[in-house]
Amino acid sequence: MNGTTDVLELLSSQHDEVDELIAQIEDSDDSDEKEELFRQLADKLAAHATIEEKIFYPSVMEDDTHEQLLESAEEHLQMKRILADMLALDADDEHFDAKLSVLKEEVRHHARDEEEGKLFPVVRKSFSKDELAALGNECLAMFEQLIDQEPRMNVPAETTQAASLDLAI
Ligand SMILES: [Fe+2]
Ligand SMILES: [Fe+2]
Repeated sequence: MNGTTDVLELLSSQHDEVDELIAQIEDSDDSDEKEELFRQLADKLAAHATIEEKIFYPSVMEDDTHEQLLESAEEHLQMKRILADMLALDADDEHFDAKLSVLKEEVRHHARDEEEGKLFPVVRKSFSKDELAALGNECLAMFEQLIDQEPRMNVPAETTQAASLDLAI
């Protein structure tokens, strides 16, 4: 994609895509289809979490966001633990649907209540349009690179502790 991508709009639209995939998995009663949709969901969530942890969170780390960003990294850890559990299950296992419900709740709380509800409005006030566009382009480039490399496969190795939010430059 050329031009500019507001990082907050990019991340919010990825949240919408995640919700849509969760709804499709819930609606499916074919276990092969569920597993394929779940692989897409796990890849999308993994790549989304990575661009937030490696680019977005470190770039918006300030006194008034610090505490919330640390909490966000812990919420990512919880979601990765559920994803890792689900990656090891067949979609027709009864625990798969139970874990999907918990994942859905965690995604709603983290993405909608915490990020879109609290963090993004603070970031919107503190950063210029150009800064948010530059961050968006950077995040999108990393996402597009990651998404083709089965990023879900990295999730099980990221379940012991929350990601460090140091800017990796
Ligand atoms: Fe997040
Ligand atoms: Fe997010």
